[in-house]
Amino acid sequence: MNKKINKKKIYIKTWGCQMNEHDSSIIENILIKTKNYVVTKNPEKSDILILNTCSIREKAQEKLFHQLGRWKKFKEKKPNIRIAVGGCVATQEGKKIHKRAKFVNIIFGPQTLHKLPELIHQSYYTENLVIDVTTSSLKKFKNSVNTHITQKFTSFVTIMEGCNKYCSFCIVPYSRGKEISRPRKHVLSEIKKLSNLGVREVILLGQNVNAYKIYNSINKKKYNFSDLLYEISKIPKINRIRYITSHPMEFSNDIIQAYKYIPQLTNFLHLPVQSGSNKILRLMKRGYTIEEYEDLINKLKFIRPNISISSDFIVGFPGETHQDFKKTLQFISKINFDTSYSFIYSPRPGTRAAKLTDNTTIEEKKNRLYLLQKKIIQQSFQWRRRMLGTIQLVLVEGSAKNNPKELYGRTENNRIIYFTGKSELIGQFIQLKVININYNTYLKGTII
Ligand code: SAH
Ligand code: F3S
Repeated sequence: MNKKINKKKIYIKTWGCQMNEHDSSIIENILIKTKNYVVTKNPEKSDILILNTCSIREKAQEKLFHQLGRWKKFKEKKPNIRIAVGGCVATQEGKKIHKRAKFVNIIFGPQTLHKLPELIHQSYYTENLVIDVTTSSLKKFKNSVNTHITQKFTSFVTIMEGCNKYCSFCIVPYSRGKEISRPRKHVLSEIKKLSNLGVREVILLGQNVNAYKIYNSINKKKYNFSDLLYEISKIPKINRIRYITSHPMEFSNDIIQAYKYIPQLTNFLHLPVQSGSNKILRLMKRGYTIEEYEDLINKLKFIRPNISISSDFIVGFPGETHQDFKKTLQFISKINFDTSYSFIYSPRPGTRAAKLTDNTTIEEKKNRLYLLQKKIIQQSFQWRRRMLGTIQLVLVEGSAKNNPKELYGRTENNRIIYFTGKSELIGQFIQLKVININYNTYLKGTII
């Protein structure tokens, strides 16, 4: 007779960056593997509510207590519900969260999420807070691969965690701890596993992937990011390699050269510059000048003339004058950036920039953001326009939600393209001709 196990329902809410999205999928995989949990999309029906927070730009504390206020109502109706808060805000605020919201049962950090099964278990035996927010550990990656993947052809693979750069505006080094690289063997075996499960494209993930470093105590050699890229390129059926995010300061020549020898490296690079003014870059403690950034891009373009570059920009950093801002706009034209992300500077508690005098009004900052985004959209449209009529290699990812006859995939330069085709094509690379560039801001293609 089948023994029916009553699995507990988990609901996970995630804020913020790709790193956090990936952490949430690790939480899901770890809990599902214990066979005691299933995921639900309905928070009201769940037994365990998990909030994975991010504090990179938003007023995260206030947002946290708003969210918890909503969940408190569920707990009043169903007192045995467990509420867990994880992510960067949990690391920063720790027990303070529980002081203000006594109904929170568990607090965990980005590096302790692998302990969740144990922490949840403990929380059923005590009304006290169960907390573990230690940093700098790679244990969470054990059991992190979803072995049930079907129909998934692109996968994130974390290669390093944390950051030592301490850019003056950024909270990450405080919330995620020091840089720590995953052992080469673990990364490679995870990618081999994914390849056997059907994955054809990996996106290597880390705050600073190009800071990846392993020291081999036997041959006393350093193994770095480009060494890892070469090894990944030898794994069968991994036809595309992307990575986010790299830092201009450590974008060494060996990485540039890798673009010559590794065709799987896509013709697309996200390399945040933040500002086009050297004065602001200095205040941000970024560790490079715009001339060095430009030099690096020119070297890359020498090897890959059509490479498209995207970036992150911060406007309204303390001390940014109209002149500095103009330099950023000019730099965007000069490099010819493709789609980029841009943000208004937001002071983060405890960071060095938070102490700097800031005289620019919020209206002026909003206006700068508007002008910058307008420029980026125009430039990105030019990139799209150049694609019209070209043949693109596309990894087909799935069928369109609204039209069952239509499939979609991604071009090498990271653009979504729709086309009419049979579902057998999902998971394959095919060649498409771009026939429309204004298809709800996506591309439209046809099989050739
Ligand atoms: N290496 C990281 C960068 C982390 S944050 C990564 O994996 O992406 C992502 C972007 O958020 C940064 O590049 C920066 O442009 C923006 N950002 C970070 N802190 C910020 C702040 N205090 N205010 C505004 N934007 C910020
Ligand atoms: Fe943040 Fe700078 Fe590191 S933006 S993640 S401190 S490289």
